[in-house]
Amino acid sequence: MDRIRIRGGAPLHGLIPISGAKNAALPLMIASLLTEDTLELGNVPRLADISSLLRIMSNFGVDHSIAGRRPGQSTETGQTIRLTARNVIDTTAPYELVSTMRASFWVIAPLVARFGHAKVSMPGGCAIGTRPVDLLIMALAKLGAAIEIEAGYVVATAPKGLRGAEIDFPKVTVGGTHVALMAATLAQGTTVIRNAAREPEVVDLAECLIKMGAKIQGAGSSEIVVEGVTSLHGASHDVMPDRIETGTYAMAVAMTGGDLVLDNTRADYLQAALDVLGQAGAEVTSTHGGIRIRRNGNGLMPVDVTTDPFPGFPTDLQAQFMALMTRANGTSRIRETIFENRFMHVQELARLGAQIRLDGDSAYVDGVPGLKGAPVMATDLRASVSLVIAGLVADGETTINRVYHLDRGFEALEAKLARCGALIERVRG
Ligand code: UD1
Repeated sequence: MDRIRIRGGAPLHGLIPISGAKNAALPLMIASLLTEDTLELGNVPRLADISSLLRIMSNFGVDHSIAGRRPGQSTETGQTIRLTARNVIDTTAPYELVSTMRASFWVIAPLVARFGHAKVSMPGGCAIGTRPVDLLIMALAKLGAAIEIEAGYVVATAPKGLRGAEIDFPKVTVGGTHVALMAATLAQGTTVIRNAAREPEVVDLAECLIKMGAKIQGAGSSEIVVEGVTSLHGASHDVMPDRIETGTYAMAVAMTGGDLVLDNTRADYLQAALDVLGQAGAEVTSTHGGIRIRRNGNGLMPVDVTTDPFPGFPTDLQAQFMALMTRANGTSRIRETIFENRFMHVQELARLGAQIRLDGDSAYVDGVPGLKGAPVMATDLRASVSLVIAGLVADGETTINRVYHLDRGFEALEAKLARCGALIERVRG
């Protein structure tokens, strides 16, 4: 298994191109199941999760092609993938496939909407606590799908098609909103989705669906209205920039000091996180195509943070921010309200010398003057990158094991950081 080796202490200077967002690319790829025409997606990141979803889609009979790399293009340039769900031969997604990636559960929505049948394995638990799908199932049931749970599978049927409905989510759910949105595009009549997630990835999905012929209003607000159509057609769409990757590198330079331009991204996708970084002592400015972050000499101030649905502070940046706060001049409180048990990085950060106390949904981080390199283990995607951030300033060598977590979500992480001065390398093993 590969490892990442870091020698801490080098500041970051230069430019990092931000990749397409994994969390937008996955639902966009799944949306290709809604039409028999070709959906062409540009700026798709080269990540293990994308390859896993392509395998799942191939299993249904979806054809895909990936445009070859042009001369001069690096491996970090997003790829263009064309997906054609013309000859769908199977509407079952088995456990072996769904359990590798939770987002694949969302295929249930386009499958039942277009073919009237879907049988998808329940995703099961995962490393960041219980992640139920009851609200996703509720949304499909509201749209008229008959739902049965059989031996670990959710079977959704709607032989006469789905019907528009009013869907009130009792809790903001990104997955639930994606599912409701996709299913409603092909339902008969009007669907109103209330308390919808306002995440930029929902807007990206809605914009692509609109290009495919869907009638959607209000994406990005908490009420989305969908007028069902009888069929959707092909389209071409570029995946939005990855706001979590953007925030991660912003925290990295806030940690090491230096001056970084994050290119091909947008500040308004992560304003809450950038505001917090400003309070912590980083200087954040907008550039023509992205964001510039600097921190020179000054120490880090402690800042309290609570994770919230968009536009709040994202749960996917909580671990990275905690790593940053391990070096602040004082104590910060970090509250996680989206997921229980999303503090696995605490134990590993402690191995590097961090002082963190857990109390219910909160972590109290007492800043320390220095961290010390050590071997650590990645436990999930965002936790593992928090260890990278800590390793970038830890004295001596930090080795991060189980790097496959990082490869699920960060395109060319070590190459991007090394080009900006970090002493980081991948050790093949
Ligand atoms: C969540 C994050 C998203 C992040 C992703 C990966 C939020 C609102 N969502 O999206 O930003 O990129 O994790 O880390 O921050 N829930 C239920 N029943 C359901 C579905 C969800 O109770 O059927 C609960 C979840 O347990 C959680 C909350 O609703 O407490 C939000 O979940 P949801 O947004 O659906 O999770 P993801 O789509 O995975």
